[in-house]
Amino acid sequence: MRSLTTTTGERPVAVVTGATGGLGEQICRTLAHAGCAVVAGYRSSADAAQTLAAQLDGEGHRALPASVTDSAALARLADDVATLYGRCDILVNCAGTTRFVAHADLDGMDDALIDDVLATNVRGPFAMVRALRPLLEKSTLAGGAVVVNISSIAAQTAMGSNVIYCASKAALDNLTKSLGRALAPAIRVVSVSPGLVDTEFVKSMDDAWRDEQATRTPLGRLAQPEEIALAVLAAVRDLRFTTGCVLPVDGGRPLQ
Ligand SMILES: NC(=O)c1ccc[n+]([C@@H]2O[C@H](COP(=O)([O-])OP(=O)(O)OC[C@H]3O[C@@H](n4cnc5c(N)ncnc54)[C@H](OP(=O)(O)O)[C@@H]3O)[C@@H](O)[C@H]2O)c1
Repeated sequence: MRSLTTTTGERPVAVVTGATGGLGEQICRTLAHAGCAVVAGYRSSADAAQTLAAQLDGEGHRALPASVTDSAALARLADDVATLYGRCDILVNCAGTTRFVAHADLDGMDDALIDDVLATNVRGPFAMVRALRPLLEKSTLAGGAVVVNISSIAAQTAMGSNVIYCASKAALDNLTKSLGRALAPAIRVVSVSPGLVDTEFVKSMDDAWRDEQATRTPLGRLAQPEEIALAVLAAVRDLRFTTGCVLPVDGGRPLQ
């Protein structure tokens, strides 16, 4: 695997939220393997994040609290990253939340759930960028700093775990565009937009449902977490003239 490099020869610093989730863990592993010092951001899974940071390839990894709905906590995170590393080169906004509610069940989407999904999936990534912007602007990454927002094809298809989840990911993609413009040229901003990924959570669901999702995907299967992580790496390392756009990793699901 070709490594990520900085102009100063130091390891690139990558902050990943939702680091212990099905996708976050693989993104941390892939970025560490590509030479990054990874900050594994967690909300409630402190022990799992510490274990992950200790297992990653290379050196300089940390697990730090990163509750994306708590702006005071994010200010402390930025202070800690500044003290430890002096800069941030890559931010991956992977933390996200949802719950299955049938789209026709409007009463099933109560205000508390709506607020939680929007605060976590939309306000959270924005708050992370706001908190880390000064450190991202100090990036020495070859090609410049990058924010990757982990979105979903639900943003485009309006098919997903619930109506507000789909809307939250559409809002996140819109945020990617606004911030791509607003933060250029110092910071690129890209959405990586997975279809259904075969994480442990998805594996635990009804086999018939999973098979149906695979059948409805032109490439005939679900995504693997590694494929999402490699798309993140490609957006950071290879797509250096790309900003403010959405990169689908969905096996062609919206075509069917
Ligand atoms: N899995 C899929 O099929 C799929 C498909 C498309 C898009 N996505 C998106 O990919 C991202 C990761 O999904 P996943 O499957 O890895 O999810 P997951 O396994 O359920 O993990 C969710 C992660 O988000 C973190 N989190 C939740 N609320 C948070 C908050 N307020 N502050 C900080 N962290 C918070 C959790 O941290 P703690 O455990 O520390 O609380 C957990 O690590 C999400 O944005 C999701 O919408 C997933």
